[in-house]
Amino acid sequence: MIDNNIVEEIKSRNDIVDLISSYVSLKRAGSNMLGLCPFHSEKTPSFTVFPARQGYYCFGCGAGGDAITFVRQIENLEYVPALEFLAKRVGITIPADMTRRGDGFDRTRMLNMNKEAARFFRECLFDPEIGAPARAYFEKRALSTATIKHFGLGFSPPGFSALTKHLHDLGYTDAEMTAGFLCGRSKKTGAPFDYFRNRIMFPIIDVSGNVIAFGGRVMDDSTPKYLNSSDTPVFKKSRNLFALNFARTACAEEMVLCEGYMDVIAMHAAGFTNAVATLGTALTPEQARIMSRYTKRVLISYDSDAAGQKAANRAIAILGEVGLDVRVLKIDGAKDPDEFIKKFGADKFRAQLAGSAGKFDYNMNSVLARYDVSTPDGKIKACAELAELIAGIYSSAEREVYIAAASGRLDIPAESIRADIERKIRKRKSEYKKQQSQKIVRQSAGYGDRVNPDYAKNLAAAKAEEAVLGMLLLYPEHREAVRLGKVKLTAEDFFTEFGKRVFGAIAENDQDGTFSPSVLGQYFTPEEEGRITRMQLSRSELSDNGAAVFAESVAALRRERLAGEETGDGVEDLLDIIKEKRNT
Ligand code: GTP
Ligand code: MN
Repeated sequence: MIDNNIVEEIKSRNDIVDLISSYVSLKRAGSNMLGLCPFHSEKTPSFTVFPARQGYYCFGCGAGGDAITFVRQIENLEYVPALEFLAKRVGITIPADMTRRGDGFDRTRMLNMNKEAARFFRECLFDPEIGAPARAYFEKRALSTATIKHFGLGFSPPGFSALTKHLHDLGYTDAEMTAGFLCGRSKKTGAPFDYFRNRIMFPIIDVSGNVIAFGGRVMDDSTPKYLNSSDTPVFKKSRNLFALNFARTACAEEMVLCEGYMDVIAMHAAGFTNAVATLGTALTPEQARIMSRYTKRVLISYDSDAAGQKAANRAIAILGEVGLDVRVLKIDGAKDPDEFIKKFGADKFRAQLAGSAGKFDYNMNSVLARYDVSTPDGKIKACAELAELIAGIYSSAEREVYIAAASGRLDIPAESIRADIERKIRKRKSEYKKQQSQKIVRQSAGYGDRVNPDYAKNLAAAKAEEAVLGMLLLYPEHREAVRLGKVKLTAEDFFTEFGKRVFGAIAENDQDGTFSPSVLGQYFTPEEEGRITRMQLSRSELSDNGAAVFAESVAALRRERLAGEETGDGVEDLLDIIKEKRNT
């Protein structure tokens, strides 16, 4: 755990308006600031920053918290790294023993160990003897020394434990090396040995320049072709992208997503410095969200084989979901961007990039490729599928362009396609309305509440509970009343599991009367912190939160909880009520 004083110091030096303004464009609205929420797609701003309380809350998606929560959410960091991020931003150094994580590993040491490993691999690569085969391999793949150095590439020597010995000498422990995925342990003797052996090494570097992991490729056709670090205390592969540290400053307009490290390296070397790749896995929604913070448009440039194209189709959906404009590059005459650039040169590749088909063209081509449109049956099926695609496009002008294209390709009059599409749009609209009203019924009953699934089981008790917690979070005098036993209140009095946890965290940190909501990040996810922020906001808007109101809210919590237990006024009854309403 981190010292409260340090947390407060870091927070007080990072003004929240200043911090959030570097990500979101904010406009003044009364005493608050308003902007478009960076955590969900919206057209009218509901993301509010409260300078007075140094917090934020989105009335659209419920994200909220303080400067630390914001950094956790927007930079995809855990609590301690987020704190370090903020500390670095204002030039504070956190003592290393305070950044020790729950798992016992010191993040700073782990990162330094990785840096030492990268240095070791590089030295091996440039060692006249040891590195000769690796340098020959790079030469074969036409990588210049400048490119090798730019990406910090290296070579893990054959043998058993060269790196392990080296890191031992530098004072790193077996536990650190195995947790950091640099060593495995012999099943027979338990002795640690190098995980990466006789491979060319690709360090994975985060946007702050830390070496967080490695990929290692064999130099021949043996398998597995690549070994990649698994998740470690300083690395989550689902939340990082290869070469984002370089691409981040060159991708405001467009980012290119490739499959392989070698593709990215070849692209950067040819001047396309906006290329990134996933880390040996399919694209994740988290990665898509990260990309959406750096760029507007993603050009998918996967391998031209069937597997690559299938992965591209999945990536289109994931990227579209976060509001990114997606295009797909179809590489002809080469298996991947790397080979294309080598075969045809950077200029040809640039032409391909510029002329890359938009999402619709790509989808239309893939539909048309699946059916034999010279037969009536194939034509009808292809037309139905295209109509479905076009019906999903928001702009009617854009729809007209695609209707014309489809009409030409299928030789079907535009009017008939348009009529089909309009019918589909009407149907979607009515389905959407139905869904929305169901959603409202569910929400008002608290269903689908991921943060607090117990909420719906007894709404009156859950609401009373939030009132009590809101006041406790806001006012030291109420916390004192509880601490001194003037108001009797224990975790058991709370109705939901979540409420019990929030109360527990407050009580644990208020034993000497020094609780501050800033510490909650150590116990709760950003999503949960959003809910905690809502509890505070809905209380702070009310004029009376005095001792009498607090006592009454505690009494109400008890009363409602007991009433719920007696009458069984729980989730089943609510479901019945909703059902009844639908049937009548
Ligand atoms: P080259 O064959 O040298 O051009 O490699 P590449 O970097 O272009 O890789 P490729 O297109 O074959 O694969 C794409 C990505 O998938 C690689 O960069 C790796 O991250 C990952 N990958 C490929 N093979 C393996 C494997 O055997 N195991 C694991 N874990 N990942 C792999
Ligand atoms: Mn490749």
